[in-house]
Amino acid sequence: MSEGQNNNEYAGLQFDGYECQFPLVRGTENETGIDISKLRKETGAVTLDYGYVNTAACRSSVTYLNGEQGILRYRGYPVEELAENSRFVEVAYLLVHGKLPTESEQEHFSTLLNEYSMIHEDMRHFFYNYPEHAHPMGILSAMVVSLSSFYPEMSQGNSQLGMSEEEVDVATTRLLAKIRTIAAFSYKKSIGEPFVYPRHDLKYCENFLNMMFSSPVYDYQIDPEVVKALNILLILHADHEQNCSASAVRLVGSAGVNLYAAISAGISALWGPLHGGANQSVIQMLEQMQREGGDLQKYIDKAKDKSDPFRLYGFGHRVYKNYDPRAKIIKSTCHDVLEKLGKDDPLLQIALDLEERALNDEYFIRRGLYPNVDFYSGIIYRAIGIPENMFTVMFALGRLPGWIAQWKESREDPQFRIQRPRQIYVGPNLRHYVPMSERE
Ligand code: ACO
Repeated sequence: MSEGQNNNEYAGLQFDGYECQFPLVRGTENETGIDISKLRKETGAVTLDYGYVNTAACRSSVTYLNGEQGILRYRGYPVEELAENSRFVEVAYLLVHGKLPTESEQEHFSTLLNEYSMIHEDMRHFFYNYPEHAHPMGILSAMVVSLSSFYPEMSQGNSQLGMSEEEVDVATTRLLAKIRTIAAFSYKKSIGEPFVYPRHDLKYCENFLNMMFSSPVYDYQIDPEVVKALNILLILHADHEQNCSASAVRLVGSAGVNLYAAISAGISALWGPLHGGANQSVIQMLEQMQREGGDLQKYIDKAKDKSDPFRLYGFGHRVYKNYDPRAKIIKSTCHDVLEKLGKDDPLLQIALDLEERALNDEYFIRRGLYPNVDFYSGIIYRAIGIPENMFTVMFALGRLPGWIAQWKESREDPQFRIQRPRQIYVGPNLRHYVPMSERE
């Protein structure tokens, strides 16, 4: 991990009549932080930063993101190069192990992903007891935390503390292998079809597609164009530094829980419509626009109206105030995929028109609101046959290596300690208990 340079630079703070100095921390891309770890000790005060807009929670060497310039790199490699040249499993290795794999490392990793791809037969029964319309994200989160009961190599009292590197490697690889089986099983359950087991002769994405779409009466033909599109989508979702779900993984992980519990927390956070759940909300929004005759201006006006809770899903981002580089690639992949599969999705034209209107609207321009990763991804998922309620599960599949990398980095950090923010208390001052008979 990069330590972050200090170089004896300080920022001064005048407070309550005296001045304190706080060290500056500079990252490898010259990002600057003010290390206020001693703030409370020195001044008695804390910082208040709603939504952590100005707060770095850690030093990290996993992902570099510059929202103003639209840059995204995993372990230093531009996401554009990885999407163009790599496969998801290679990027997963890169994120989790910090380096691109050699041929033999990649082969070994792929073999392990196949070896670990089955889930315990007893876990299969859990799926049967979910109600028909259970959301696959709820099932995924529950199944992932359940893995800790079936694969207790993480349990030193079911905690991550004291695990060897080898045990961590087994657990993380096992999780990467099993999540796609769990994801596909939850889809099969939702449509009432029998589960299709993973196959050792298929690669990661092929295997997933086969488990999703094969059935005893139908032999699914794996289309290389679909595999390519899926690899690109998973790569583009693989990490995004300290976003809401990665922070959930780190925060829950900081209590010492096992890997599966921490990742399950990340899955739950991702489900929200302001985060990864936006990919499902975008398609629902576009479908509604289509049903209502395509009056896009009505929705732009609703999004601008502060008394209306409606937001343009797939637009805006905490960090990007420029075009999200992932959305750029997904948009062009969307055109490619529809053309190669010979599909015509009217929602694509609605999305393109909506984007054009928004990008020319003063409200969106002033706030730097651009399409994010979720705006066009759903149109590709539809084209390759993934149902709407599985969109966020697909995001989770892609994001898993990033969560694992963030979790590993946090537990290996010499500064590792439980995360526990402060607050500014604004409730009542001391008052004393009044018996019920005397209350007004
Ligand atoms: N539609 C309309 N207005 C928006 C939108 C939007 N999609 N996004 C932001 N704004 C407005 C806000 O109302 C606010 O306006 P104001 O300054 O007049 O109050 C301003 O832009 C800044 O927005 P914030 O909500 O303060 O930005 P924040 O960083 O807190 O939120 C978020 C980012 C949650 C992504 C937000 O842009 C949003 O809700 N977008 C829609 C949901 C979405 O697509 N989420 C997926 C994000 S990508 C991901 O997580 C994988």
